Amino acid sequence: MPLLVNSVMLLMLLYIFYKLRAAHLLLYDLRDQSRSDHTSLFRQLEALQGLYAELGLRNSLPPTRGWAASPDFLLELTRHARSARPLTVVECSSGISTVVLARCMQLNGIGKVLSLEHDPHFAAQTRDQLRRHNLQDWAEVLDAPLEPHLWGDESWPWYSLNLLPQRVQIDMLVIDGPPQATRTQARYPAGPMLFRRLAAEATVFLDDAARADELAILERWREEFPSLQQSARACEKGCAVLTKSI
Ligand SMILES: C[S@@+](CC[C@H](N)C(=O)[O-])C[C@H]1O[C@@H](n2cnc3c(N)ncnc32)[C@H](O)[C@@H]1O
Repeated sequence: MPLLVNSVMLLMLLYIFYKLRAAHLLLYDLRDQSRSDHTSLFRQLEALQGLYAELGLRNSLPPTRGWAASPDFLLELTRHARSARPLTVVECSSGISTVVLARCMQLNGIGKVLSLEHDPHFAAQTRDQLRRHNLQDWAEVLDAPLEPHLWGDESWPWYSLNLLPQRVQIDMLVIDGPPQATRTQARYPAGPMLFRRLAAEATVFLDDAARADELAILERWREEFPSLQQSARACEKGCAVLTKSI
């Protein structure tokens, strides 16, 4: 009988030890996660503050992150747009990035943003934001419904380019759409559809470049457009930068 009691007690002790160890490991994970979340949040706050400082805005910007671009990516766009002073900026998907880039054009005193937007609701929202910031002269949201584009035996739902001027030379291209849910490698067509319109010293920014889908797109572009040099900027969702090699 004492042997049975001892065995049960031992099993209970082992179980308690097992549970305590699991709780201990969980606490370490939570601590690491919390540190990493705080670091990431702090970086975004710094970038957001930098953005407001560099843009000198009187009104608040719409919410960032989530569906919208993150402050660190927007700051990369701002710094480039302010120093390179592009004449034509083309954007795949509109939103806060349109407002930010339009403000850069206004500060530069030159340039125009042409933003392709497939969803009329979000197109209207971006136009409202541009008016709210008195930036409507510096950016135009082009209604560009997604339509099938064929490469080989594959079809991509991608923007209609009917409203994009035919002869446009793109100095800065920002790719943040279409949304990932539209199909795998949803943003791939920006390459074959727009890269031949890039001006001599154009720069391309791809948001969400840390996702597996975007990494596959970059790999494909690397093979198909070898004259474009790829590099990365440290942004929370990933930011790839493509420049023409001279
Ligand atoms: C990644 S978002 C575009 C973000 C935009 N470049 C910006 O910085 O705000 C891509 C597309 O998602 C759509 N979209 C924007 N906000 C959304 C939301 N809250 N819910 C669902 N779709 C949204 C719009 O059609 C937009 O073109």
